[in-house]
Amino acid sequence: MRVVYFSADQDHAAWIPGLQAAMPWADVQLWQPGSALADYAVVWKPPQRLIDEQTALRALLNTGAGVDALLQLRLPSTVPVVRLDDAGMSVQMAEYVCHAVIRHFREFDGYEADMAQGRWSYRKPRSRVDFPVGVLGLGVLGERVARAVAQFDFPVNGWSRSQKSIAGVQCFKGDGQLDAFLSASRVLVCLLPLTPDTENLLNTERLARLQPQGYVINVARGAHLVDADLLQALDSGHLAGATLDVFRVEPLPARHAFWQHPKITLTPHTSARTLRSESIAQIAGKIAALERGEPVAGRVDPIRGY
Ligand SMILES: NC(=O)c1ccc[n+]([C@@H]2O[C@H](COP(=O)([O-])OP(=O)(O)OC[C@H]3O[C@@H](n4cnc5c(N)ncnc54)[C@H](OP(=O)(O)O)[C@@H]3O)[C@@H](O)[C@H]2O)c1
Repeated sequence: MRVVYFSADQDHAAWIPGLQAAMPWADVQLWQPGSALADYAVVWKPPQRLIDEQTALRALLNTGAGVDALLQLRLPSTVPVVRLDDAGMSVQMAEYVCHAVIRHFREFDGYEADMAQGRWSYRKPRSRVDFPVGVLGLGVLGERVARAVAQFDFPVNGWSRSQKSIAGVQCFKGDGQLDAFLSASRVLVCLLPLTPDTENLLNTERLARLQPQGYVINVARGAHLVDADLLQALDSGHLAGATLDVFRVEPLPARHAFWQHPKITLTPHTSARTLRSESIAQIAGKIAALERGEPVAGRVDPIRGY
C-alpha cells in the first residue's frame, strides 16, 4: 500500500518517519508533483494539484480537526474525507477556554496590571451566576469545553445543529434557537466549523444579543467573526473584552487594530495544536480500519461542510 503525505506547514521530516513507523505495511512518501499514485493521502492544506494527480485514492485524511481549507478544493465525490477527531486537541481547548473565562471572570488581567505597577488592590468578588457561558458548537471540542467550564460552576449554554443532551449544559439547537442562546449568554465561545452557514456569524446583530458586558472567545476560525463589528461592540461598551486565537489573515497583519486594542487578548492560533504522535497513531488506526472495511470516526460530510 502506498501513502503520500503533504502539509503546507507541518514538518514533513518528522511526520513521514512517524507515519512509516506506525504503518510498517505501507510505503509512506512525501507527495511531490508527479509522485506515483497512492492509496491514501495524509494532508494539511494540500494544493489542488495533489487532488487532481492522485486519482487512485481510497481516502483523504486531514491532519487537523477543521476541514474548511480542504473543502475549498475540488474533491472527487467518491473519495471519503476523514478528519482528526480529538487526538489530544479537546483537552488543550478546554484548558485554553477555561483559562480565558476564569482570567476574565476573576479579573486576573486587572490584577496583573495592578501588581506590575506595585499596586496592592482588591476588586469586589463577582458572582458566577452573572457569567453564563455560551458555547457555539457542541462537537468533539465544544462538548469537552462546555463540560470543563461547567465543572467550575458557571451556568453553561450550548448551541448546535442537532439537539444535544449534556449534563450541566442547557442545550439549544438550530437557527430558531440562536437568539435565545445568545441572550442567555454573557461569555461567548466559538467552536463551530467554518462553513457557508457559520461564516460571519458573529456580527453586530448577534453580538448585540449577548448580555451586557459580554465577552467573546474565538478559537474556531477568524472568518466566524466580523472584525469591525467586534471592535464597534467593544468600543461602544456593550462588550467588556475578547480573547482571540484565530484570525481572517494569519499571521495577524502588523497594522491590524486588534494588536493594540486594550480590551483584546491575542494568541497566535495555538489554542489546540495538532500533536504529532497522537495524530499519527489515530491516522494509522483509521487507515487500518478503512482497509478492513470498518467505519471510522471523523468522516466529513462535504455537503454539510464539516
Ligand atoms: N484554534 C485551534 O487551534 C483549533 C484547533 C482545532 C480545531 N479548531 C476549530 O474548531 C472547530 C470545531 O472542531 P470540532 O472537532 O469540535 O468540530 P465538530 O466535531 O465537527 O463539531 C462541530 C459542531 O458545530 C455544530 N454546527 C456546525 N454547523 C452548525 C450550524 N450551522 N448551526 C449550529 N451548529 C452547527 C455541530 O452541530 P451538530 O453536532 O448538530 O452536527 C457540532 O456540534 C473546527 O472546525 C476548527 O475550525 C480550531
